[in-house]
Amino acid sequence: MGDFYESHPYPPPVDDLDAYRAGWDDGRRRADSHLFWPAQPFRDDRSVLVAGCGTAQAARYALRWPHARLVGIDVSATSIACTLELKHKYALDNLEVRQLAVERVDELGETFEHVVCTGVLHHLADPGAGLRALRDVLAPAGAMHLMVYAPYGRAGVYMLQDYCRRLGIGWTDAEIRDLAATLKALPPDHPIAPLLRASPDFSNRAGLADALLHPNDRSYSVPELLQFIDDAGLRFGRWIRQAPYLPCCGAVASTPHRDLLATLRPEAQYAAMELFRGTMVRHAVVAHRKDSQPSEARVSFEGDAWLDYVPIRLPDTIAVRDGLPPGATAVLINRNHTYTDLYLPIDAARERLLNAINAERAIAQIGATDREFARAFFEQLWRWDQIVFDISDQIQPTAA
Ligand SMILES: C[S@@+](CC[C@H](N)C(=O)[O-])C[C@H]1O[C@@H](n2cnc3c(N)ncnc32)[C@H](O)[C@@H]1O
Repeated sequence: MGDFYESHPYPPPVDDLDAYRAGWDDGRRRADSHLFWPAQPFRDDRSVLVAGCGTAQAARYALRWPHARLVGIDVSATSIACTLELKHKYALDNLEVRQLAVERVDELGETFEHVVCTGVLHHLADPGAGLRALRDVLAPAGAMHLMVYAPYGRAGVYMLQDYCRRLGIGWTDAEIRDLAATLKALPPDHPIAPLLRASPDFSNRAGLADALLHPNDRSYSVPELLQFIDDAGLRFGRWIRQAPYLPCCGAVASTPHRDLLATLRPEAQYAAMELFRGTMVRHAVVAHRKDSQPSEARVSFEGDAWLDYVPIRLPDTIAVRDGLPPGATAVLINRNHTYTDLYLPIDAARERLLNAINAERAIAQIGATDREFARAFFEQLWRWDQIVFDISDQIQPTAA
């Protein structure tokens, strides 16, 4: 398996992270911090492990968190060499890089407040062993960012993987080139066609090899993922972007099934939404140790605590003003959403509340005059991935 990434490092190596660095300011850092730790005051000096860091991810994290201490590990010597080049180019004194397997991460002899592992576990021979090893190095109040493949949106990928296996196609440059040429002749309505058209992963040879020729590749439906997390001694925190998983958001909320879906437990709603949407290709979640204290760290709109939450706008959100529905002054969109039904029309009264968000004021200071109106709107903004909350004023932070 390591051999695969020696010859096909992924993502393809990059040597210029200037634009990436320029995209990270304190506003973005603050929003990111409260996405993972709503209940902890903002900090930018956490210890971060990037597990299976590939060619550039650890260097990106070191750039975006200059005051944090980063450790990047990967089994691939090629990926480590690419990361070391970026470390030297950008003088990343806050980054340590080690050639080490996720399963042996305990050899670092330390714990981390943030563990990032994206696009890795579904490639391991024993993903459970990898996740348990990561869980053991997660600090008690830490937060893990996991991304694994999802099955239904990747059905065409698994068909083509099977096709390649049957033909005995290997990883040489010539074989990958011939495969790329052959894919051009696929029927336009083949289940992989939308991915070939839309995903940057398929636009280069490294991406093609990673998607279609990887010797280990499994995926997790929502119930399988929740079980995977639970089995490793972890607790599901939230989706990195939650609106696609919520039946109150998007087109399904206007169907006759709206009320039926609303009666389901959250986990069953997420599973139903994965089936309804049908094209999810990955799941990205925040997970915590099961033995951390869960209840006080949750955003909730029951009781009165929400009045003290400080809303913070997510950086990739925009207000669109063209072609508005009747009565709307804007339509709010999160540019990271891939589903076009996830837009939130707002009127003038709601826009006044939105414009009062400044990452400092609590909801009580913004819109307490009509409490029910404010509660409903801020909950909506949160569910639609327009905002995160700093709820640390509510909660005594626990030591990491
Ligand atoms: C698809 S790449 C993802 C890279 C990076 N996490 C990202 O999101 O850009 C998968 C990476 O996991 C690494 N990898 C695979 N198995 C591993 C293992 N057992 N331990 C550590 N890294 C591993 C590969 O070498 C490769 O760099």
